[in-house]
Amino acid sequence: MNQAIGVFDSGVGGLTVVRELRQRFPMKHIHYLGDTARVPYGTKSARTVERYALTCQNFLLERQVKLVMVACNTASANALPALQASTSVPVIGAVHPGALAALAASRSRHIAVLGTLGTVRSGAYEEAIGQRDPSATVVARACPLFVPLAEEGWGDTDIALLAARRYLSELFENNDLIDTIVLGCTHYPLLRDVVSKVCAELSSKPVQIIDSAAAMVTQAAAHLEASAQTDGDARRGALQCFVTDESRMEELAPRFLGETLDSLETVDL
Ligand code: DGL
Repeated sequence: MNQAIGVFDSGVGGLTVVRELRQRFPMKHIHYLGDTARVPYGTKSARTVERYALTCQNFLLERQVKLVMVACNTASANALPALQASTSVPVIGAVHPGALAALAASRSRHIAVLGTLGTVRSGAYEEAIGQRDPSATVVARACPLFVPLAEEGWGDTDIALLAARRYLSELFENNDLIDTIVLGCTHYPLLRDVVSKVCAELSSKPVQIIDSAAAMVTQAAAHLEASAQTDGDARRGALQCFVTDESRMEELAPRFLGETLDSLETVDL
């Protein structure tokens, strides 16, 4: 069996990254950990998020993964240096790939980032974008209601539309040059259509929507190809899913993953 890719998130949202991974690397084996006992990370302090993220990563490293993907923007924004410093295995976060994709898409260099409170508070996207292009303007907005809307399966309803209008109108009122929006949270791809619709209402110019989950997989692809690790077994890779609390993972997973889970195990970290 080829060595698996390890992916973790605070809960179910990171399955949007797994979905992308399985589309691009169908043969790869994946170990996914959702820290459902301690979700949400988005409202917690940076110190706590770092502590939780390190225990998640250690669990995956014990399972001999060859690559760790931090499929949680809050953990990436607050804990990536500590995660990378604690292992020789490559660790990919969500923020840098999202920042790079935003810079590649933006012409005006005015970029908005939507994320959890923890991601916005960290300033990680501003830093990642500013390092590459100090002339870029970045505004970040926490959209906490998007997470429960996505989990409830209400990502494309009128309620989501109202919430998106409320969050985004302020952004465009203050800056009508924004031409790129980063969905800087693993849950937000489920509201992509609604965000896109609201952008069309609020801006006279086209606005590009960047999905940090897809951007992460692009970075992982470069990594896997560079180290000749793309060739797995000649059958579809297994997805082993672990949670720290049974909660609603089995019910919610198909919404984020696009398929039902074959294997689900509850673990204590
Ligand atoms: N997974 C988190 C993120 O991408 C969202 C959910 C949470 O707050 O834990 O930021």
